[in-house]
Amino acid sequence: MSSYVAAIDQGTTSTRTMIFDHAGRVVAVDQREHEQIFPKAGWVEHDAEEIWANTRATAAGALANADLHASDVVAVGITNQRETTLVWDRTTGKPVYNAIVWQDTRTDRIVTELGELGGGQERYRERTGLPLATYFSGPKIKWILDNVEGARQRAEAGDLLFGNMDTWLLWNMTGGPDGGVHVTDPTNASRTLLMDIGTLSWDPDIAADMGIPLSMLPEIRSSSEEYGHVRARGALGGVPIAGILGDQQAATFGQACLSPGEAKNTYGTGNFVLLNTGTEKVLSRNGLLTTVCYKIGSQEPVYALEGAIAVTGSLVQWLRDNLGMISSAAEIEEHARTVEDNGGAYFVPAFSGLFAPYWRSDARGVIVGLTRFVNKGHLARAVLEATAFQTREVIDAMNADSGVPLKSLKVDGGMVANDLLMQFQADILGVPVIRPVVSETTALGAAYAAGLAVGFWESEDDIRTNWAQDKQWDPAMDPDRRESQYRNWKKAVTRTFDWVE
Ligand code: G3P
Repeated sequence: MSSYVAAIDQGTTSTRTMIFDHAGRVVAVDQREHEQIFPKAGWVEHDAEEIWANTRATAAGALANADLHASDVVAVGITNQRETTLVWDRTTGKPVYNAIVWQDTRTDRIVTELGELGGGQERYRERTGLPLATYFSGPKIKWILDNVEGARQRAEAGDLLFGNMDTWLLWNMTGGPDGGVHVTDPTNASRTLLMDIGTLSWDPDIAADMGIPLSMLPEIRSSSEEYGHVRARGALGGVPIAGILGDQQAATFGQACLSPGEAKNTYGTGNFVLLNTGTEKVLSRNGLLTTVCYKIGSQEPVYALEGAIAVTGSLVQWLRDNLGMISSAAEIEEHARTVEDNGGAYFVPAFSGLFAPYWRSDARGVIVGLTRFVNKGHLARAVLEATAFQTREVIDAMNADSGVPLKSLKVDGGMVANDLLMQFQADILGVPVIRPVVSETTALGAAYAAGLAVGFWESEDDIRTNWAQDKQWDPAMDPDRRESQYRNWKKAVTRTFDWVE
């Protein structure tokens, strides 16, 4: 009888359970969206209990869709939206506040004040690999402890636990208040601003700066080992949970970017380019992040340079949900195809400030270059092009940091189905863009981490063997035209600055 590996992919907009076979093919999937809560401008929250309920439902749904049982599944891996921050009570299992999502900018003042202690935005760069920014978990934990009544005392008394979504799900899956395992992996921990990226342990000085008791932080284990078993009552009851990777690191793993110099770009709500730098942690001088890429069991950790872009796919969603300009995300390509180019319009979606390579929380979105000539098709194009231009900016930074220009880019995620965007991406980068057959690389990466831990896959060579190319787009744009459009984009970006005092 065949056996399978399951992966839970807890993303920004939805939660999925996927089941893979030994060849890395998708056997079953079930998916549920959750509510995006926007209490104020710049604030974004999720209901963590809704996410946990969706996780249980999709695990049961995926098994049912393929007519499988827990006994057919040899391991389960977890991958998740990173940085999104939750604090809950260890006895009741109840969150003390909604999860504060990675896109949320409410910690702007906290971040400025921490920088004023000395070192500004670079204060923790050497120890954590990260600039001080609203994106990361540490300042979000501080906000909860400062603003939820009684939270700080309860945290200091040891009653509260912190976790990103990986830890929240793992803790609940393994029993919650009744023996739940409170663990994370170094890829997630490396996004908190609280972990020493060299030693892979919590940094007590930084935690003290932020007033965060170490007792509420999860234990940091590797990305691929058995952490515990799904409690008997669950859909995957009894199955070992054996892999945890932040979603972008999981996609890098699933894309088989396993050697230094290999890079992928995932087109999700945001875009995230990760370049494997091997066991060397390269500190960026050009606005990128240094992050843990994966740590397999007792092996040395592998690092990555990352270009994180906050808003790409979520801009298309915004056109659909907030403006009603399209009725489905797929429609954007139809509109964009009605015109030859952007008609001079550029849309910089700085909705969460700007992430890499700028790290400007004072930035806000702009559309520039408008004339009466501009129509819906031009705007649709400007929306898609924003994704490609932002990607070019982080690849330029990566080339500058590494000194070795990227020769091609592997892509995955929802927007890679958009042919027009992929061609424009290759045009603007000037290098080929390559899509694999299995574009669900995030879930696949988590499945690989779990399957390696239980011996379902033997080594990383299996991952390389399973990877296969589906389609390649080659650059076709005249280089002068490419550079002049890119210059316009750069100019448009400068118009987003200084909107928030
Ligand atoms: O850092 C945020 C990232 O992990 C979110 O990814 O795929 O949920 O947009 P995604």
